[in-house]
Amino acid sequence: MNAGIRIRLLSLFAFGGLMVFFLSTLLFSAWQSQDDTAWLKGSVDERFHIVAKHLRGFDMAMVETSHRYAELYWAGKDTNWAYADYQLKKIRTAVENGLERRPKRAASAQTFLTMVIPFLEEAIAKKDTTDFWNRFGAVTSSCNACHQNEKVQFIEVSPPKMRYSVVEQF
Ligand code: HEC
Repeated sequence: MNAGIRIRLLSLFAFGGLMVFFLSTLLFSAWQSQDDTAWLKGSVDERFHIVAKHLRGFDMAMVETSHRYAELYWAGKDTNWAYADYQLKKIRTAVENGLERRPKRAASAQTFLTMVIPFLEEAIAKKDTTDFWNRFGAVTSSCNACHQNEKVQFIEVSPPKMRYSVVEQF
């Protein structure tokens, strides 16, 4: 191979290499601009920290619990037992997950989780309207007892007076 051909081949390779580099940079930046997690910055630990901050502590668990408590009430009024059971189980999950994030609050929720919820679950399983309303009353008291213990006594809950539910009335 003479020197002229060698130089031409080498420049061809160099040009090819450069093109591959430019194309992959272009593709990578296009992929990056579509990445929905681009707002998570820093190391893996720092990113987990950001996600945890957005997930929040106990307050969002309570926003969810509050909605489900109202739905549970209307499910009882409708004697829609399957929906009542569904909401009660979701309340348990919301509170348990909240406690996993804020374990200091766990002691105040023990009666609620180990007695009050299971008793209402039992009434729902039996489709017993009288027991349902007695035990629903115990749930309300237990919500407020925990609020007292956790020094948020200004949050006093009571059964809803208006129906905002989008779930159809039976
Ligand atoms: C661990 C005990 C505990 C139990 C059980 C509990 N709560 Fe709470 N609740 C709290 C605490 C603590 C807050 C304040 C959270 C915060 O500021 O981070 C709160 C806040 C709330 C809020 C205000 C939420 C907001 O930020 O808008 C509502 C509404 C509420 N709870 C309803 C209920 C209902 C309904 C029940 C029962 C079905 C219940 N809670 C059971 C401890 C509890």
